[in-house]
Amino acid sequence: MTEHYFTEENSIETVNARMGPNTSPRLREVMTALVKHLHAFAKEVHLTQEEWWYGIDFLTRTGQITSGERQEFILLSDVLGFSMLVDAINNRRPIGATENTVFGPFHVEGAPVRQMGDTICLDGKGETCLFEGKVLDLDGNPIKGARIDVWSDNADGYYDVQQPGLQPKWNNRGIFITGEDGRYAFVGIKPVSYPIPDDGPVGQMLGHLGRHPYRPAHMHYLVTADGYQRLVTHTFVGNDKYLASDSVFGVKKSLVAPFEHLKDGATQWRSPFDFVLTPLDR
Ligand code: BEZ
Ligand code: FE
Repeated sequence: MTEHYFTEENSIETVNARMGPNTSPRLREVMTALVKHLHAFAKEVHLTQEEWWYGIDFLTRTGQITSGERQEFILLSDVLGFSMLVDAINNRRPIGATENTVFGPFHVEGAPVRQMGDTICLDGKGETCLFEGKVLDLDGNPIKGARIDVWSDNADGYYDVQQPGLQPKWNNRGIFITGEDGRYAFVGIKPVSYPIPDDGPVGQMLGHLGRHPYRPAHMHYLVTADGYQRLVTHTFVGNDKYLASDSVFGVKKSLVAPFEHLKDGATQWRSPFDFVLTPLDR
């Protein structure tokens, strides 16, 4: 048997050679590549013992602040662009289909189903905005029975779940089901930009890297319909100052929506946007 004592030179092969014969092929593939790139990273930067310890301590603190309400590891993945990369790899869509973006930590299951045209803003703050459009298939046909789950921050830049007791429950959230014409409409507020939770290790890291924690103003959408891929997306306000520097890299050009200022409308703003769903088999 060849000797496999660990050396700096053979580190990758030696660690990977330890895997047992019954390891599943996919786990073998993933772990082999992980070890390869992790070791190559340490070699490339000549990682010092102190830096290794700092990294361990960072991950420990990331775990310690993580709870049912706070997912610091996903936040870390988000600010490293890793969440958006995994999302892109897994949601390659045909031309014309609405693009995905990051889900984020503030979606809540079970929002109230509202009547088409209803308001989702329950705290009366902010500039009112009519969001409207259609849910369509790739050929432009309306999709009936599509479920549009929407959520946004309030005018102070906080989601209701960040201010329990301060904001009404389900503030700026709701679910709308399209009818025959595929149309949706609801009244919310013109969203405002806000910082991602930055009082933990991820916020500290952004500070060290000279990065701000802000996300450009956006409205979140989860659009589902039988026979179509799940669409997790946002629409963005076009002139937001953080559009080109979103802390989690979620902006895509196709998701920047018009926000028209209305002079005599029932709302102060109107934002039209159509969602185009991709069939499951594409
Ligand atoms: C959000 O848009 O709600 C969000 C996304 C990623 C990290 C933090 C917040
Ligand atoms: Fe958000």
